[in-house]
Amino acid sequence: MSKDLNQKIYVAGHRGMVGSAIVRNLQAKGYTNIVTRTHAQMDLTDQAAVKTFFEEEKPDQVYLAAAKVGGIHANNTFPAEFIYDNLMVQNNVIHQAFKADIKKLLFLGSSCIYPKLAPQPMSEDTLLTGKLEPTNEPYAVAKIAGIKMCESYNRQYGQSHGVDYRSVMPTNLYGPGDNYHPENSHVIPALIRRFHEAKVSNAPEVVIWGTGTPRREFLFVDDMAEASVFVMQLDKETYDSQTQPMQSHINVGYGNDVTISELAHAVAKATGYTGRINFDSTKPDGAPRKWMDSGRLNQLGWSPKVNLEDGLKLAYVMFQSH
Ligand SMILES: NC(=O)c1ccc[n+]([C@@H]2O[C@H](COP(=O)([O-])OP(=O)(O)OC[C@H]3O[C@@H](n4cnc5c(N)ncnc54)[C@H](OP(=O)(O)O)[C@@H]3O)[C@@H](O)[C@H]2O)c1
Repeated sequence: MSKDLNQKIYVAGHRGMVGSAIVRNLQAKGYTNIVTRTHAQMDLTDQAAVKTFFEEEKPDQVYLAAAKVGGIHANNTFPAEFIYDNLMVQNNVIHQAFKADIKKLLFLGSSCIYPKLAPQPMSEDTLLTGKLEPTNEPYAVAKIAGIKMCESYNRQYGQSHGVDYRSVMPTNLYGPGDNYHPENSHVIPALIRRFHEAKVSNAPEVVIWGTGTPRREFLFVDDMAEASVFVMQLDKETYDSQTQPMQSHINVGYGNDVTISELAHAVAKATGYTGRINFDSTKPDGAPRKWMDSGRLNQLGWSPKVNLEDGLKLAYVMFQSH
């Protein structure tokens, strides 16, 4: 596809962790015509506002990185908001983009679309083969609907209107723009905060919940942004070569995973914490393993650049500067 640097590109969710990384990536590549709206300027659940925006701005491409996201607690407490907001945001953006004759859109999903008991690593074709994890099922169902929206518009309007809407499913992300809230953050920002505080207070020991044996995969958010732009810019023939009309999403993972114990030691190193690390095995472990099969993306020619050690160092610098 054309890499005209003047193309008008709308990044929905540009203040979020992924959206801001996509904006950074596009700017670094020389794109100059990036359109954004804050949540206060345009609520994407408001169909009329989204319609007016697309009619007026008519972007050439859309990156849909706006979503209501949160941890287990938020998903459990606000399931109605998680399903309603996400369905509304993606329905409005995808449908109004189509109405405004936009051919290129990238939808950001999540690894939680896969069945709770999916074989590891989780490949794209395990979608809709089993029951979802109950805690974030409403969110996951909305994300699955987003993939199916893109596919359905491609199937119905691909030939007649040139519609080419794609989806990427990120693994756990970390890096600039992460949420370091003490009670409501993902594992890496939570560990960075804890080890930083332990270092500052000279605490002799940090105790981590669980056995430390579950394995998780982590990708630096700027690699995610790079993968998003890469997938958006693939020519259609190449994209089609690795996808099917009704199974078109692409996993974006790091490629291998680490145990929580390995992660904790890596975070301790990145933050300069030298005390003891212990695990409280009376506390529950989550799923033993959550690992994406990123073979499709690798076949297409993409692989990540930032390893966990370097990514954690960069994340810690960002944490300290805020
Ligand atoms: N972070 C991860 O580890 C991870 C992993 C897998 C997938 N993803 C996916 O990547 C995408 C982006 O996630 P993220 O981590 O960047 O989330 P984030 O940091 O929370 O950013 C989401 C952005 O969307 C905006 N937004 C939400 N509802 C909106 C609405 N109704 N109208 C307008 N803007 C709205 C938010 O604005 P406000 O804050 O003002 O509401 C925020 O700027 C999501 O689809 C998520 O599922 C993320």
